[in-house]
Amino acid sequence: MEFRMRINHFPTTVAAAHAVADRIAERLKAKPNIVLGLATGATMEPVYERLVALHRAGDISFSGVTSFNLDEYVGLPPADPRSYRSTMDSQLFDLVDIDKARTFVPDGLAADAAAFASRYEAMIREAGGIDLQLLGIGRNGHIGFNEPGADFAARTRVVDLEASTLAANSAFFGGAQPPTQAMTMGIGTILASREIVVLATGAAKRDAVRAALLGAVTADCPATALRRHGNVSWWLDAESGAGVPGENLAAE
Ligand code: F6R
Repeated sequence: MEFRMRINHFPTTVAAAHAVADRIAERLKAKPNIVLGLATGATMEPVYERLVALHRAGDISFSGVTSFNLDEYVGLPPADPRSYRSTMDSQLFDLVDIDKARTFVPDGLAADAAAFASRYEAMIREAGGIDLQLLGIGRNGHIGFNEPGADFAARTRVVDLEASTLAANSAFFGGAQPPTQAMTMGIGTILASREIVVLATGAAKRDAVRAALLGAVTADCPATALRRHGNVSWWLDAESGAGVPGENLAAE
């Protein structure tokens, strides 16, 4: 079967990020009890800023939303400001009317990580599945923290992070090395979402975007797995999207 992915080009990073926020807002208005899959990282900061602004303007309410984050560092307590739980609290959850009891982030301190991971999968299922999954992309093509080589069928689990990912994310750790492991939704978990919105901005993502959209489907570039999904849109700025056709692309 041939699926198609929609490619949306924007002149600036902010325009791309705001368009993604507007897409999320549109879906939220259509389904106030939407289940969102959320991502962290520098790419998402302007998305959350815009969502907070829309909320403050009275345009959207998160009161019915349930959310599941993609990933969390192993070994970081939720209160650590560098944890993805803290990041989500400070960038979005504490600034809108979401019920924090329905915001879920993998537990980087779980004593039994495998048991926690299967509970996380069960919670997603019990919530009815993810309606819209927001994704960034790593310079090495990772989605969530599914690094090159990850099985496309994998579910939530603990993974080792690649040196390039540790280097890229050391900026969030004052230049020091981040934890070397994370708990992440698997590619199989991500592909089970009903809609996937991928935001990639900046020149550092150009090669990964080109490989994801135009290269062979291979575990060497985890984002190519998205071509096995029928409802994926890509949101690119001028730098990340250079050389990528603007029309719909054949998936496989
Ligand atoms: C974050 C995540 C990662 C990031 C990716 C890009 O929850 O799952 O896949 O989306 O590493 O990170 P930034 O946006 O910092 O370049």
